[in-house]
Amino acid sequence: MKEFILDALKAKTTPDFKLEHIFKAGKIDIACQFVISSLWIAKDVRRDVIVHLCFSGPSLPPKTISFYGKDIQGLLPTEQSIAQAIKNALTAGIKLNLEEEKQVSPGVIVAKRSVEKVMRNQKNLFYLHQNGTPIDGSKIPQNSGFVIGDYIGVPKNTEKLLKRIGAKSISLGPKMIFAAHCPTIINNELDKNESNN
Ligand SMILES: C[S@@+](CC[C@H](N)C(=O)[O-])C[C@H]1O[C@@H](n2cnc3c(N)ncnc32)[C@H](O)[C@@H]1O
Repeated sequence: MKEFILDALKAKTTPDFKLEHIFKAGKIDIACQFVISSLWIAKDVRRDVIVHLCFSGPSLPPKTISFYGKDIQGLLPTEQSIAQAIKNALTAGIKLNLEEEKQVSPGVIVAKRSVEKVMRNQKNLFYLHQNGTPIDGSKIPQNSGFVIGDYIGVPKNTEKLLKRIGAKSISLGPKMIFAAHCPTIINNELDKNESNN
């Protein structure tokens, strides 16, 4: 199982935003694109992928919305469809207590859970950083978790925690790319490793 974790520091944790203004809700548009590039390939969904959107913005942080590729139904790979699913999840999650979770629709679960907790739940953990070890030719296990920053990046204190819990940094190349492009490259790299074995 591959788990992609988006650390969305300013993304709203309450559903009081309009679907046509998701960029004003702490850049939830990035989260939508991230889900699409993690889960979808042409004409299919990657069943071995889980996406965790960890939102820490106002007004009820933390919230983690998880999408399970093996279970999702009724979602389309469009920003509008994913934005609606996120809004539904934030609505369903308003009254959750810490560590409680709730299924919102097939394969979509909302939890009152922090990014730190999601990171600690991973077996093989990596975080994406321009100056990390190049991914090319690396032997990354298929069962791994990947932490990716949003437009703000991964904060220094999160990076310290990642190092403390044994996460390794990996680089996808010398240029800073969009958060939503990272899962496509990682998925492709792991696809190549799998077909070489
Ligand atoms: C748009 S970038 C963050 C920009 C932010 N202003 C910064 O300086 O960190 C979003 C995230 O994608 C990942 N990322 C971007 N380019 C990368 C690269 N070349 N190698 C590895 N990770 C990368 C990092 O996790 C980064 O936090």
